[in-house]
Parts: sequence; C-alpha cells; structure tokens
Amino acid sequence: MSTSEGKFSGKVALVTGASRGIGAEIAKKLAAGGAEFIGVHYASNRDAALKVVEEIKALGSKAVALGAELTTGISGVKKLWAAFEDAVRSEVGSVHLDILINNAGIAPAIPFEETSIEAFEDVINVNLKAPYFITQAASPFIRNGGRIVNISTGFTRIAGPMNTIYSASKGAIETLTLALAPLFAPKDITVNAIRPGVTDTDMNKAWLADPEARAGAASMSAFGRVGTAEEVADVVAFVASEEARWITGQFIDATGGTRL
Ligand SMILES: NC(=O)c1ccc[n+]([C@@H]2O[C@H](COP(=O)([O-])OP(=O)(O)OC[C@H]3O[C@@H](n4cnc5c(N)ncnc54)[C@H](OP(=O)(O)O)[C@@H]3O)[C@@H](O)[C@H]2O)c1
Repeated sequence: MSTSEGKFSGKVALVTGASRGIGAEIAKKLAAGGAEFIGVHYASNRDAALKVVEEIKALGSKAVALGAELTTGISGVKKLWAAFEDAVRSEVGSVHLDILINNAGIAPAIPFEETSIEAFEDVINVNLKAPYFITQAASPFIRNGGRIVNISTGFTRIAGPMNTIYSASKGAIETLTLALAPLFAPKDITVNAIRPGVTDTDMNKAWLADPEARAGAASMSAFGRVGTAEEVADVVAFVASEEARWITGQFIDATGGTRL
C-alpha cells in the first residue's frame, strides 16, 4: 500500500516503545494504513527499532528510530522530543503531529513491602512523567483532528497486588486522559486510554514460559487465552482513526474480557 492510500494517509505519528511488543504492532498498523511518517521510539534496543523502521518502510511509510531512556525523567523526554522534531522536520518538511501513542511502559513485579524509592521513581518516570511531558511538548504541534492514545492496563479495573506502583502509574494515566480530553477537544483532538490484559510480549515472556502460569493467565480471559500484541494494536488503530472521532476521555478495555 502506498502512502497515498489508507485511513492514516498523510498522518504523522510518534509511538513510544515501538521497538517491540504492542508498540511495534501499533507502528506497523499505522504504516499499513498509509501514515506518512512514524517516529519509532526505543530505550536501548536499537537493532529491534531499526527492524521495525525497515518493516514500516516496506509498507510505504517514512520512519526513524528515536532512542531515549525514560527512567531518567525529563531529560529523556527532552531528548526524545528533540530527536522527533529533527526527524519529522527533515523527513516531512515541517514539525507537526497527528497521532501520539504513549505506549512505552515498565511493569516490574515487586512485592509492596520491598518496593524501593528507586523502583517507584523508575516506574513513575516511564509510565507517567514521560507521557505527561511528551504530551505537553507535542501539544502545540498536534494538528486538528489529532489523536492521543495512552496505553494503560486492565490492572486499573482488576486488583494487581504484585504490581502496586505499576497499577498506580496506570491509574494516573487514566485520570490524566480524562483531564486532558476537554483541553484538546476544541481542536477535535481525542484523548483516550486503552487497557490491555495479559498480552504475549517480552514484558511477560519469562513467567508465561511456565505452562501453569500461562494456563492461569489464559483462564482469566472470557476467550480462554492470552492476547496478542496485534489484537491490542487493532483496538489502538481504531481509536487513532477518523472513525473514532466521537470517542474521547474514555478507558477502553482490550483485555479479551478478563475477569468479567
Ligand atoms: N504485555 C502486557 O501484558 C501488557 C498488559 C497491559 C498493559 N501493557 C502496557 O502496554 C505497553 C507496551 O507493553 P509491551 O508488553 O509491548 O512491552 P514490551 O514488549 O516490554 O516493550 C516495551 C517497549 O517500551 C520500551 N521501554 C522499556 N523500558 C523503557 C524505558 N526505561 N525507557 C523508555 N522506553 C522503554 C522498550 O524499548 P527497548 O526495546 O529499547 O527496551 C519497548 O519498545 C506498556 O505501557 C505496558 O504497560 C502491557
């Protein structure tokens, strides 16, 4: 498909955490829909990000890999935004953005009693501070009809006692989503959050390798299986599309009916 066709035709996008997992699938969906340019953010996995960039280019879109470690807080955000501006200016000709996907996230399973200040700050920096300030940096450049999609988790609906900071960071992302929606509405920009359930990505690779744990995770979904990154990316792509223009300030469950 060429960039002149498709539901994301002419769109400029930034997907954080797009080197692997859900973010990589989202970036490829946008490319398959004809997006003009996609910023493929990664933390340290440059080779994986470059592979995604090549896959996007093969679909007819422009793409650049943008490295920035986000546990560092605001310095990582500044590095990412500066790299995005440079890339979009040289690839597209002017700095603007249509689709911002705040997807990068970390989910360390740490017992509540053992949570260190450092672990707490890392999670908050990546999962909350980065999306907050990336959105703030992007805000003046988001064109009318734009989309902001924040990736949350089913743990905002279902208790996650082994993931307390993670759950809290995603709960904050959801209330941020709600608070931002009216601010962006005058430009017909929607702001929504998607809640994936247990999804087959590197985030869960270690524990899902245990057949008993995988069966337990599968049994929580109404469909009796673990979700795929592509299944979550399809929901994100819908929310990022023109068809979802009447949805804003919402938290959309994409957990495969987990613990209904
Ligand atoms: N997988 C699930 O079951 C699940 C469930 C609910 C919600 N989610 C949410 O969905 C999103 C994507 O998850 P995923 O499973 O696709 O994750 P993943 O496979 O672990 O990939 C994580 C992505 O985020 C980037 N990243 C990791 N640590 C980072 C850091 N310190 N600074 C900046 N970027 C960093 C990674 O870059 P590198 O490749 O460079 O490391 C990678 O692109 C996250 O927000 C997660 O919380 C996932």
